[in-house]
Amino acid sequence: MTATAIPALQTRDLTKVYPGFWSSQHVRALDKLNLTVNRGEIFGLLGPNGSGKTTTIKLLLGLINATEGSAGVLGKPAGDQIARRSIGYLPEETYLYRFLNARQTLDFYARLFNMNRAQRNRAVEFYLEFVGLDPAVRRRQLRTYSKGQARRVGLAQSLLNDPELVILDEPTSGLDPLATIEMKKLIKELKRAGKTVLLSSHQLADVEDVCDRVCILYRGKLEIEGTVDSLLEVKDVFRIEGRNVPVDLQVKMVAMLHEAGVSDINPGVQRSRLEDVFKRLVLEKRSAERAPGGPK
Ligand SMILES: Nc1ncnc2c1ncn2[C@@H]1O[C@H](COP(=O)(O)OP(=O)(O)O)[C@@H](O)[C@H]1O
Ligand SMILES: [Mg+2]
Repeated sequence: MTATAIPALQTRDLTKVYPGFWSSQHVRALDKLNLTVNRGEIFGLLGPNGSGKTTTIKLLLGLINATEGSAGVLGKPAGDQIARRSIGYLPEETYLYRFLNARQTLDFYARLFNMNRAQRNRAVEFYLEFVGLDPAVRRRQLRTYSKGQARRVGLAQSLLNDPELVILDEPTSGLDPLATIEMKKLIKELKRAGKTVLLSSHQLADVEDVCDRVCILYRGKLEIEGTVDSLLEVKDVFRIEGRNVPVDLQVKMVAMLHEAGVSDINPGVQRSRLEDVFKRLVLEKRSAERAPGGPK
C-alpha cells in the first residue's frame, strides 16, 4: 500500500471499559468502534457529553490502553512514538501557564520539540499569525485572555511541530458564536494546508459546515456515520434553486407541479440541519430507554 492509501486513522472494534471498584461500576465508555478517517479530510466525532469522544481520542493518542480492539494512526499502532511526532493535539482543557504571555508559552513548547532559537522564533511567529492572535494581546499574560484567545494559543501550540494529523477535542466549546466562526475558519485552513483533522464536538451546528464526514456516538456506540451531505439529504424531495426567477414563471412552475400530481410542493424549502438529525437520534434513544422493557 502506498503511504497515501494508508488511512490517517483506523479503529477495529475499539473498546474501553473503565474499571470500577465493583463490577457493576465498570463503565463501557467505548463499545466496538470501527472507524476510518482518510488523509486530508475533516472528520467530526460527535455526540452528547459522556458518549466516548474524549476516550476515543485518548486511545488514538495512546494516552490510555484499549480494553479490546485496536487503533492505528498514520499507519502505526496508536501510541507509537514516531507517529506521535506527526500528531498535533488540542486537549479538551488546555492547561497553560497563566503568568506567561503567548509568545513565551509557545517558545516553551517549541523547546520541547528541540527546535533551535531561530526555528522557534520562526514557528512561534508563524503560528501566532496563523491563529490570528492580536499583536497587543500576545504581550499580555495568559490569565487575562478570553476563552477564545486562550483557545487560539492552544491551537497554535498543537501546530508547532507542523503535524500531519491534528486532533482537536471540543475546539469550539465555550466559545461565543463569533469566536466559533473564526475557529471553524482556522480548521478549514488546516485542511487547505493538507492536514487531516479529527475534531470532537457536542455542539453540532458548530461543526456541521466544516466536516467532510461525521459520526455520532451515543453511549460509546457508533450510531450514525456518513458525509454531512448524505446525512442531511432528504431523499424523496427534489429541489431547484435559482436567483431572480420571475414571479409569473414561479407561478407557472408551481401550477405544473400541481398538474403532475406532485405532493407537498413547498417553494424555498430548507434542508434539515445536522442538529435535527442529532436531536431526533438522542430523543428516540432516550424514549426507548424509558419505555418498559427497553434497554437500560
Ligand atoms: N477515567 C475514567 N474513569 C471512569 N470513567 C470514565 C473515565 N473517563 C471517562 N469515563 C466515563 O466514560 C464515559 C465517556 O466519557 P468521555 O469519553 O469523556 O465522553 P465525552 O468526551 O464524549 O464527553 C463517561 O460515562 C465518563 O463518565
Ligand atoms: Mg470529552
